[in-house]
Amino acid sequence: MTPVSKGERISFPLRKITEGRVSFYIPDTAEKDTNFVKTPVFYNPLMELNRDISLLAVQVFQQEEKQRQIRFCEPLTGCGVRGIRIALEIPDVQQIHLNDKNKSAYELTRENIRENELQDKVTVSNEDANLFLDKQTSSGNRFDVIDIDPFGSPVTFIDSSVRALRKKNSLLCATATDMAPLCGVYPNVSLRKYGGYSLKTKYCHEIAVRLLAGCIVRTAARFSMGTKVRFVHSTDHYIRVYVETDHGDTKANISLQELGYVLHCFSCSYRELVRGMSTHLVQFCPNCNSVLSIGGPLFAGELFDKSFCERIKSEAEKRKFDDAKKRVTRLLDRVIEEADGPPLYYDVHSLCDELSIRVPKIEHVMSDLEKNGFKVTRTHFKPTALRTDAGVEDVKGVLMKCVKIE
Ligand SMILES: C[S@@+](CC[C@H](N)C(=O)[O-])C[C@H]1O[C@@H](n2cnc3c(N)ncnc32)[C@H](O)[C@@H]1O
Ligand SMILES: [Zn+2]
Repeated sequence: MTPVSKGERISFPLRKITEGRVSFYIPDTAEKDTNFVKTPVFYNPLMELNRDISLLAVQVFQQEEKQRQIRFCEPLTGCGVRGIRIALEIPDVQQIHLNDKNKSAYELTRENIRENELQDKVTVSNEDANLFLDKQTSSGNRFDVIDIDPFGSPVTFIDSSVRALRKKNSLLCATATDMAPLCGVYPNVSLRKYGGYSLKTKYCHEIAVRLLAGCIVRTAARFSMGTKVRFVHSTDHYIRVYVETDHGDTKANISLQELGYVLHCFSCSYRELVRGMSTHLVQFCPNCNSVLSIGGPLFAGELFDKSFCERIKSEAEKRKFDDAKKRVTRLLDRVIEEADGPPLYYDVHSLCDELSIRVPKIEHVMSDLEKNGFKVTRTHFKPTALRTDAGVEDVKGVLMKCVKIE
């Protein structure tokens, strides 16, 4: 396809592409250059699923809020595709405010708004995201939904986002791609950024989500906002959380009670999720007496609101996604299955490594655990993992038995 030129304001070649129901321009280099070294404006085609789910979640949130007219904000917008898709694909989103501090991103977003004839509904500004959000904190200006989708960590934008959210029932959506700190490679960075230690376990992605959610819960509480985690997912190189906020000291106090710690034994893989910030933490593993490692403080409550996830799935089905998009419904199926499941999933492959046995069929392991009276589900976090209320020694016992029988 021949690159398009847009005159003086946009000095780089463009290419028109389609995502969802929207056609828009991206820099001609953007799709090839997903590590954004050379591209003047960022666009990552791999994040389409993230954007698909994001707009479905906003749609469901809007329906729940009795069809309230939504003011949506994306303070780090890139080429504007997320906001423009929301404008065109979700009826009744009243206003959309986009922003990016990169001048080229701002100009390209302006072009994309014009291209889709959305000037009446979508605005874009060219400021630092925190400055932009700070100007929106007076009553009447605040947003119903803020979607933070940065490079790396969203933490530097959470304070200003919480203050720019409408006080009554709003939705904060955040992506994090800084998986090394969150997954235990750099626990001190995690402590500095997210306020809790990460742990390099085989279920580190769940800990990552809990650290980000915990950071949002604490930040919101500082502004007397209670929080409810509605939905999270871990996909490819990023994690994503959807947290509802609602004003009130008592609500904030109740939300803080959902913070806690993960205790993990690196000798036998025992793990425990403990609620409470000032709780007494056991120091030694009840299985093998090794010293336990501590992750957190982090969010120790429920990660999924099952009915919210079910409604997202039914919206996805209405949109008749093509084959590639079936990934959305597959992910949601798993999420709905695990929504009531116990925390801190087990990776079957790594437990088998520990036991030096071959890996039995996960279906056999699950049915054996069930026969023994344990709850068990798969998880979207990892295809080789399961959630169960069985202790690690019980899971290992079942693995050994399955290997012998198979
Ligand atoms: C990952 S990209 C956004 C992608 C976009 N959300 C999407 O779905 O396609 C991050 C964007 O944040 C912008 N950015 C980085 N730091 C910023 C800041 N402090 N204020 C505003 N924009 C910023 C970058 O210019 C970049 O366009
Ligand atoms: Zn142990």
